[in-house]
Amino acid sequence: MPAMITGWGKCLPPAVLTNDDLATIMDTSDEWITSRTGIRERRVSHVGVADLGYVSAMRALAAAGREPEQVGAVILATASPDLLIPNTASRIQKLIGNDGASAFDINAGCCGFIYGLALANGLIETGVHESVLVVGAERLSFYLDWSTRDSAVLFGDGAGAALLEPGVGGAGVLAADLGCEPGAGEALMIANFGTVMDLSSWDGGPFDQRFDGQEIFRRAVRGMHECSMSALKRAGLEINDCSMLIPHQANLRIVESLGKRLRFDADRVFTNLQRYGNTSAATVPIALTESLEEGLIKPGDNLLMTAFGAGLTRAAAVLRWGERTTPVANATAELPPCEKSALDLIQA
Ligand SMILES: CC(C)(COP(=O)(O)OP(=O)(O)OC[C@H]1O[C@@H](n2cnc3c(N)ncnc32)[C@H](O)[C@@H]1OP(=O)(O)O)[C@@H](O)C(=O)NCCC(=O)NCCS
Repeated sequence: MPAMITGWGKCLPPAVLTNDDLATIMDTSDEWITSRTGIRERRVSHVGVADLGYVSAMRALAAAGREPEQVGAVILATASPDLLIPNTASRIQKLIGNDGASAFDINAGCCGFIYGLALANGLIETGVHESVLVVGAERLSFYLDWSTRDSAVLFGDGAGAALLEPGVGGAGVLAADLGCEPGAGEALMIANFGTVMDLSSWDGGPFDQRFDGQEIFRRAVRGMHECSMSALKRAGLEINDCSMLIPHQANLRIVESLGKRLRFDADRVFTNLQRYGNTSAATVPIALTESLEEGLIKPGDNLLMTAFGAGLTRAAAVLRWGERTTPVANATAELPPCEKSALDLIQA
């Protein structure tokens, strides 16, 4: 029996960094960023990934009407963990007040949430766990070099989460397709952060970012199209059987090209990158949560989710939604207040 999403939640840090803000610290403009990417603003976090993930997780648990101790596994998809040892999933587990679940991080770049969804489905289908929390949380602002205008304008911070439990009435993860093109890995890479670091010569300066936007763009559209078609085939469905496409939110032009290639009507393709930029592994769960908040998902709908990211990874999943499209309850968890502006945060 496949696993279904029974709870969902998001957490966006409050500090907003607009395109006009960026134009005060680098040679760019609102016109360039909006016309090339669709992005108008993004969030900058004053807290770490565990805190962002914790708030989104508490909201997902409340939406499902479940208590933290009922969670059997916490999977954190992130490329910006607070710590590597111990993993940041265990920090989220502690913050939500769970003792005993399995907890691990996965890094599949922007595909992390969909990879996590497939893993959670497997854990539930094979009876290892009955309830799995998948969190996508990122603080990409940590890595960004604010003097590098081609990449710094694209990304933002945030978190989203989903609780998965055994599916009922045919609802659940119907199929997934996951892949990676390692030969193109250098198109999106931070080449000097990790145990490869030469600590004796590191001066704390900006990270060595490799970023080939056009190469990523080309491969993204092709990769998301291929794995979407493959996941649909495995699910025994056609595009027209899906009510919504929830794609990774990197660039509006990428989303539009993908929508056209898949022949999805534009009004059935969800976007919110205008407000948040690319939040990597957090984009899909944030977009899913907002689709539900906006009443765009109806009971029994088939949804197609797809993403691409550092690796270069690619992923797609087809889900059949259950009967409930509103939260059982709302959580009280909140981030601590932020006293600084987004510009102050990045300049610090
Ligand atoms: C990065 C991206 C927006 C660039 O768009 P593009 O249309 O390919 O633009 P180009 O790279 O050709 O740059 C065009 C010009 O704008 C300039 N430019 C780049 N960034 C700029 C910025 N923020 N503001 C103003 N000008 C900028 C470039 O220097 C270039 O100038 P030149 O013609 O004088 O050399 C686009 O390729 C993209 O979104 N790729 C996907 C990247 C991504 O999302 N990666 C994450 C994947 S998970």
